[in-house]
Amino acid sequence: MRYARTRAGDMFLSSTAVVMAEAVKLATCLILVYVEEGNFRKFLRTLNLTIIKQPLDTLKVCVPSLVYIIQNNLLYISASHLDAATYQVTYQMKILTTAFFAVLILRKTLLAIQWSALMLLLTGVILVQLDQSKPSSVPSGTEQNHLIGVSAALSACFLSGFAGIYFEKILKGSDISVWMRNVQLSLLSLPFGLFTCFLYDGTIIFKQGFFFGYDWVVYYLVVLQAGGGLVVAMVVKHADNILKGFATSLAIVISCIASIYLFAFHLSLQFATGATLVICSIFMYSHQPRTNDVSDKHLLINKV
Ligand code: C5P
Repeated sequence: MRYARTRAGDMFLSSTAVVMAEAVKLATCLILVYVEEGNFRKFLRTLNLTIIKQPLDTLKVCVPSLVYIIQNNLLYISASHLDAATYQVTYQMKILTTAFFAVLILRKTLLAIQWSALMLLLTGVILVQLDQSKPSSVPSGTEQNHLIGVSAALSACFLSGFAGIYFEKILKGSDISVWMRNVQLSLLSLPFGLFTCFLYDGTIIFKQGFFFGYDWVVYYLVVLQAGGGLVVAMVVKHADNILKGFATSLAIVISCIASIYLFAFHLSLQFATGATLVICSIFMYSHQPRTNDVSDKHLLINKV
């Protein structure tokens, strides 16, 4: 994202890339719902029953879809104004905002050891990311405002925590499939996204066209964003948003270790410390104190 936003040449409109990612997600989820249903008649019946016949339920999905559109636009703003390290590190704060909303909205109980594990995870992933990022330069003429970048990333953290937990609540509170939920999400995100597009970039779109500046890098970015979103949906369905924080942090560590072999990445003390903290935090978070009172059973069930 950072590369696509800071290279020289014709610059694409990020608001159009957000809409395109929603369109790719919608198409993919419609195919997945079709596969789940088995034939076209059942597919249409399910769409009708879930989306048209339950307008209130569809309206509930409005909240995260609106929030995700704002969040995804903020991430582009942040990536345009901050260097890759500051952008990634600031966005890791979502680990804490997610836990905060899990307690507030899902009434999840987190033990002191689990809060400590989350702090350890945050420290670990920040150390790892600061170590792997290299100083990057931007082409002359690209204006960067640090304050705008950090504010956008921090706001995105809050929105990420809130939308993730809200989606988890509606997903687990009904028996509607995750792909169907995502169809609802994208159906609403698309008009919201288009509205944002034309509100901010309408004149440029009419002058230069919707796909101005698109090349394979931008198409790749769109597919990557859409794919990432669908994986998030799966993780929330089979695990939860807090575990997602652990999974993505571990993925960062693993990808760095893979780069030792693939790209001759040098293992530093800072990286080793960060990676150790991430791994320790995972064990700490899943540690079960040996008591058998009701709240601990509740926690265990939550985790399973
Ligand atoms: O960084 P974070 O984990 O909050 O990013 C979540 C991303 O996943 C957003 O881009 C959002 O659009 C996407 N998402 C999705 N479907 C879901 C949940 C999230 O496409 N059910």
